[in-house]
Amino acid sequence: MRQSSLVVVANRLPLDDNAAPDGACEWRRSPGGLAGALHAILEQTPATWVGWGGGVGPARDLPDIGTLRLRPVSLSEDELAGYYEGFANSTLWPLYHDAVEQPVFDRGWWETYRTVNRRFAEAAAEVAEPGATVWVQDYHLQLVPQMIRELRPDVRIGFFLHVPFPPPELFMQLPRRIELLRGMLGADLVGFQRPQAAHNVAQLAQKLLGARGADERILLDDRVVLTGAFPVSIDVAEMRSLSARPYVVNQARQLRHDLGAHKRVLLSVDRLDYTKGIEHRLTAYSELIRDGRVKVRDTVMVQVAVPSRERVESYRGLRDRIEREVGRINGEYGRVGEPAIHYLNQPFDRADLAALYQTADVMVVTPLRDGMNLVAKEFVAARREDNGALVLSEFAGAAAELEDAFLVNPHDVDGLKETLLHALAADPDDLATRMKGMRDYITSNDIHAWARAYLTALHESRVPAV
Ligand code: ADP
Ligand code: G6P
Repeated sequence: MRQSSLVVVANRLPLDDNAAPDGACEWRRSPGGLAGALHAILEQTPATWVGWGGGVGPARDLPDIGTLRLRPVSLSEDELAGYYEGFANSTLWPLYHDAVEQPVFDRGWWETYRTVNRRFAEAAAEVAEPGATVWVQDYHLQLVPQMIRELRPDVRIGFFLHVPFPPPELFMQLPRRIELLRGMLGADLVGFQRPQAAHNVAQLAQKLLGARGADERILLDDRVVLTGAFPVSIDVAEMRSLSARPYVVNQARQLRHDLGAHKRVLLSVDRLDYTKGIEHRLTAYSELIRDGRVKVRDTVMVQVAVPSRERVESYRGLRDRIEREVGRINGEYGRVGEPAIHYLNQPFDRADLAALYQTADVMVVTPLRDGMNLVAKEFVAARREDNGALVLSEFAGAAAELEDAFLVNPHDVDGLKETLLHALAADPDDLATRMKGMRDYITSNDIHAWARAYLTALHESRVPAV
């Protein structure tokens, strides 16, 4: 077995196994913030990525991607249902996102979650060379840090949570709260998107585990666990160079033409997820049309919603509701050859996304809760001129960084309507100042800065518990 000095452990491999139309298998980059962020930094670093390839049954061996080795972990049909669709995405995901959808507590899922976490931990322990760094990602694998500590006390263990960590009152609802907390605190460094999360965890560790210490330095048993905020980012240089390619620029021009050269374009790009606030946004937009404050002849909305977790009931229900509502809005307000909304329920490649971002007058990113939201940062990186507005939810981690966006509370539909109008009517000088501010920020806080900050802190961890 080949071993590496850096091992990343994440539920998903950075590539998806897709059946091509001719039945052959082809691989594409997985949508979602985590895969995109880590893919960017690991392409050139010798490392092994332990993860699930997307299907069920025995995992196939996979070729390296540059210097990155892939170590696939298999899932059976039952494990996919109990671990991924069940405990991870029907219990933890909604609970960690402020319970905007009711979390499901199914006692049968826990054992499967634990079994699969153990499989990931064993795979990581196998491919880590002596004294390696093992970096575990996200809520699917919250038990893995402690399991690796038991299997391989010689390695340094990091854990990063890409999603929000909930307030203690919500976390306390979890039937397996003690195991989940202890599992995560098996790491030497636990990283979050926002400082509040570290504070919440320190409080819970005191209450549930009898830990001592402060927010960023938890004393648990005879160890120190460091915690901190490391807001994740994107590969700004990649998005910028993609956006400058002549065929992307031409594609953007063509899209603008197809949408109506004289029209103002509102754009949203999301995974089709109930945390993203798509329904609130559609309500706001359709009311603006209904009230005559926005005219379909001079404004159009583009909603890209990439299919996600489609076997989970709440996601299927959401998709049906959104498609009904888009149909209603177009039926009521569209004109022949002139829909009010273009709805695209499909994955796009990076170049298509770069072109789309360039067509928007207003990028509308209004999640009800989001750990970070990389789409907001991608939009800024893709803009080649100092124009275009970003309407951004206060409840996205990105809002703490992109202060020059038009910030909005997406639960307040009237406020959302006013902010959309404000962004549509903004003065070009104001937009230019805002765009420059956001661009400067992401340029110096890109994905490489994030990885450097986290890995440096991890290497300086393992401090004595005095
Ligand atoms: P999340 O991690 O919850 O999905 P983020 O906004 O942080 O939300 O990340 C979403 C990622 O998925 C971005 O990198 C974005 O470019 C990508 N993405 C979104 N929509 C699509 C799509 N239709 N096709 C391909 N990738 C997409
Ligand atoms: C979010 C999560 C990731 C996840 C991604 C896509 O970004 O934090 O862990 O990979 O969504 O979701 P999926 O269920 O398709 O992996």
